[in-house]
This record gives sequence, C-alpha cells and structure tokens, in this order.
Amino acid sequence: MSLAAAMTDTLAVRVARRWPEAQGIEAFELVHIEGAALPAFSAGAHVDVHLPGAMVRPYSICSAPHERWRYLICVLREPASRGGSSALHDAVAEGDVLRIGRPRNLFALAPGARHHLLLAGGIGITPILCMAQQLVQAGGSFALHYAVQQRDRAALLGLLAGPGLAERSQVYCSAGDAPSRMDIGALLAQAEPGTHVYACGPARLVQAVQSAAAGQGWAPERVHVELFAAPQGVRADGDAAFELVLARSGRVVDVPAGCSATEALAAAGVAVPTSCGQGVCGTCLMGVFSGVPDHRDMYLSAEERERNDQFLPCCSRALTERLVVDW
Ligand code: FES
Repeated sequence: MSLAAAMTDTLAVRVARRWPEAQGIEAFELVHIEGAALPAFSAGAHVDVHLPGAMVRPYSICSAPHERWRYLICVLREPASRGGSSALHDAVAEGDVLRIGRPRNLFALAPGARHHLLLAGGIGITPILCMAQQLVQAGGSFALHYAVQQRDRAALLGLLAGPGLAERSQVYCSAGDAPSRMDIGALLAQAEPGTHVYACGPARLVQAVQSAAAGQGWAPERVHVELFAAPQGVRADGDAAFELVLARSGRVVDVPAGCSATEALAAAGVAVPTSCGQGVCGTCLMGVFSGVPDHRDMYLSAEERERNDQFLPCCSRALTERLVVDW
C-alpha cells in the first residue's frame, strides 16, 4: 500500500471539544466534519490519529460504541513522548480538523465469556471503560478495577460513576491518606469459572496479570492484555544488517544496522501500515516464509514466536541473513 493510499483510507474529524480530564490527561471529543454518524466499532478498538510531521499514533476509543456521533479519546502527556502526545496536547485546539484511521480492534471482548474481569492501570482505563460501557448496554456480566497513583490522575471518573458502572467499579489510589492497592492475585483467584480477564495499562500491571494468571493455571485464551508501550523501549543491541525479500514482487530490500525494517521499506517506497512502532500493537504484522526472525516485540505469544512464521517489522529483525516475507 502506498502512503497516498494509506491516507485516503482515513476520515476527517473535527475536535468538537477538548478538556483536561485529569492531571496530565486531555480528553478530545472527535465528531464527523459533516455531523454524520462515525464508523461503527466494538469496545477495545482504537483509532490511528494522523498528526503533524507524518506521525501516526493509536488511541483507544473510550466513549460507548453506541454513541456513533463521537469518538472520545484521552491522551496522557508522556514524559518520554516520541512527539505524539505533545503534539495533541500543545497543537490541537477545539475546531481543528484531524485525520484518523478507521477503528481497528486488537483487544476485543471475548464473545463466549460468562463474566469479564476488567483491570486498568493509569491511562489504560480508556479501552477498559469502553468495554464496561458496551457490557452495560448488552447486559453482560463484569467487574471493573482501576488503579492509579493519585486520585487526581484518574481519568474518566465521571463516566465511571454512571448508571450500571458505579456499582461494578472500584478505584484504587496507591498514594494519599487512605492508600489502597489492586490485589491482582486475589481478583484472579476469586474469579468464577468462565471468566475472561482483560488488562490494560503500564507494563508492570500487564505483566503482573499475565504472571498471576499463568501461576493460577488460567488458559492463555482467557487472558487478554493491551500494552501502550514496550516496557524498556525496543531492544537495539546486536543490530546486524539483513535482507528482506518481498515474496510477492521478488524485490530485495536491505535493512542496515540501526534502521528498522519498516524504515528501510519506507525508504524503498514500500509503505507498511504501522501504529505503535514499538512492537506492541500488531498493526505491521507480516508473514514469514523463510529465515529466522529476531523477535523483539511484545505482541506475539511464546508459541507464535517459536513458529517463526510471522514477525513485526517495526521492531524485530533477523537472525539469518535473509527473511522472505509475505509482502
Ligand atoms: Fe505496532 Fe509494529 S506498528 S507492532
């Protein structure tokens, strides 16, 4: 897909309102520029927001899926921002028109679950709140647990206090006069059979949920997680040059050391859709026909890595001189 084609698959939206939602977090309410209904989505979906400087950043939609007149996103100003959150905080005003991709869902509710245990940390509340709202609408069974450091850093408390949500939600603040902590192990241990758990937030929360679930024998398909960033960024040690062979065209693209495969492909005029650029979202996933990837992502499971039949070119590299990919 060319860059031009990628841009035409976007939608123009207007920033109808923006407001400070919590300390360091701004809310942006996006509406169709002609007042039409926005494309449908399901809870857990995100939109890619196109920002000045050809930056594209994914943000979870936190408004309810039945509210087709708006997408609400909340953006935390990241101290280690690669520019996305600063651009939104500093340069986007009410009335501005932005281009966004169509909603995509890589963190959906499991349709067969009897109960949904929703765990959020910090800005990870955004898809989790959307899930809770969809479950309220659908009459689904759920409990929501939301951990923050301080109450003034907790976003979306107004929506969480709404009908059907308040009685099934619990907020924990680890600092303050009466500190409280989310006990992940206990929540998982008390879960009824048929429960699926969903976790979104900082890496330490997501990893704690994964390791508690594994320790308690939860089947991997009942554990759903979404990370917003790689815990330590993308590993860059041992970078070696390799060749990427595009099987569909036979083209060979050199990937030098210090340059990602997606950067090398872009320089060769091959645009691969990307979003997080850190191996956490799965947008750039590519099939691998031969060669051995050096997996550096947080997206693939251990079993998927072992199969070596797919890789994430935004961050992963090759352990062999060549990778032949399905592109
Ligand atoms: Fe997110 Fe590659 S762009 S995993």
